[in-house]
Amino acid sequence: MDLGDIRNKYIEAVAKASGEAALEDVRVAALGKKGEISALMATLGKMDPEERKATGARLNVLKDEIDAALRARKTALADAALDERLKSEWLDVTLPGRPRRQGTIHPISQVWDELTAIFADMGFSVAEGPQVESDWYNFDALNIPPEHPARQEHDTFFMARAEGDNRPPHVLRTHTSPVQIRSLQANGAPIRIIAPGRVYRMDMDQTHTPMFHQVEGLAIDRDISMANLKWCLEEFCRSFFEVDRVELRFRASHFPFTEPSAEVDIRYSNVGGQLRIGEGDKWMEILGSGMVHPKVLAAAGVDPEQWQGFAFGMGIDRIAMLKYGIPDLRAFFEADLRWLRHYGFSALDVPGLPGGLSR
Ligand code: PHE
Repeated sequence: MDLGDIRNKYIEAVAKASGEAALEDVRVAALGKKGEISALMATLGKMDPEERKATGARLNVLKDEIDAALRARKTALADAALDERLKSEWLDVTLPGRPRRQGTIHPISQVWDELTAIFADMGFSVAEGPQVESDWYNFDALNIPPEHPARQEHDTFFMARAEGDNRPPHVLRTHTSPVQIRSLQANGAPIRIIAPGRVYRMDMDQTHTPMFHQVEGLAIDRDISMANLKWCLEEFCRSFFEVDRVELRFRASHFPFTEPSAEVDIRYSNVGGQLRIGEGDKWMEILGSGMVHPKVLAAAGVDPEQWQGFAFGMGIDRIAMLKYGIPDLRAFFEADLRWLRHYGFSALDVPGLPGGLSR
């Protein structure tokens, strides 16, 4: 048995292997379970002790040598591949930047900026609150006590609680109304704020998604009335939809945190999936509103004998659908690049009243 020939054969094969797969073939042929070296090892049992000792030792040396050669070649091949990549993927960081203009502003962000511009012009400043809210701010302070049926109607997402913790769980806020309380606590009356933000409810169909956007409005002063609310909303819609004819319908309604309460629908048409505002025979509900309930003012530390005013909560996604003719709410949140390129806005086109809201 000439181990020298066998050695040379495999060392040469290793050197010639041009890739990982070829190397593996060599390994299997030599050292695999049915490989040549393994087969030789299997013959040791039939030898006499002296010969077995000598041959065994030589076979082990040979096995280690081939194994080392395989590893070295593998590393060399990987280094060469990396060199190749580094050569082809180099980048000249001194080249001037070229704009690719791939990103667009999402219609929700655009509408958010548009409505902020309009309300800012009417003297409203922007307020914020947390999306994970205590149930006191989301419900109790808004005159929705624990047993009140409105709690069920809100399809609330509750945060998990630690084992044995019996305090009421925090919730994902179901509306932006808790920001009314937070703003009044922080600043007192008089106040005029809007609070755009994300809200959450367990609901999903063509006009509902589990996360959506609302903008809360709150105006508290000595003598604010329903008439101010109506003017404010009509003025907003004319400005926002950029059409002369906008028709709103105020429907008597009920919210625990306002008295009296009204829901507002807007007239639109849907012809072949194309939504149009100010015409047609359909109505879309876009907001809830009313005069802030005295108990809500009291809960926020404001004296209801001295102060009064209105609040509203408007669906940002809804008014975005209507303004930009988007028939399915779910498309907003699917992150489909083709959709975003079609409905998205240029980042340089910042909405403002002087320059026009949208072009
Ligand atoms: N929070 C109410 C809702 O989400 C809307 C609303 C806000 C109603 C303010 C009245 C006053 O449905």
